[in-house]
Amino acid sequence: MPLVLVLHGPNLNLLGERKPEIYGSLTLDELNQRIRALAEELGLDVEFFQSNHEGALIDFLHENRHRADGIIINAGALTHTSYALRDALEAVSRPAVEVHLSDIHNREPFRRVSVLSAVCLQQICGKGAGSYLEGLYVLSRHFSAE
Ligand code: DQA
Repeated sequence: MPLVLVLHGPNLNLLGERKPEIYGSLTLDELNQRIRALAEELGLDVEFFQSNHEGALIDFLHENRHRADGIIINAGALTHTSYALRDALEAVSRPAVEVHLSDIHNREPFRRVSVLSAVCLQQICGKGAGSYLEGLYVLSRHFSAE
């Protein structure tokens, strides 16, 4: 069964209480349950990792690079700033989908720029939990086409 790593970056541990009008009312555990349920339907294995630390996210990618078939990443604000995370995604060389709960193109200007999108298959944003679910579909189709 293909393994998909689902990475959540800084502040996503506070989902449910952090700006619910923007990020929704699901907690991170509830979001992960939804992702797992669809992954099971699609015949994908998933592993979750959340960290508020750039280096921990990079270490997780490195440590799991030989096991992972694909990556879904919501890097939080690191999306807009982290060349180190961008390089890590490129280095591990696994198909990755960049996801965001909110529509980063219709918020503050600094959120419009993603330094990760160039090394991802696709960017999906503005669909809440649905962004992650669509990311799973993208990877599932990608695996079948391989
Ligand atoms: C986010 C959008 C980012 O700009 C923000 O810093 C986040 C969450 C999203 O899921 O909408 O932490 O990635």
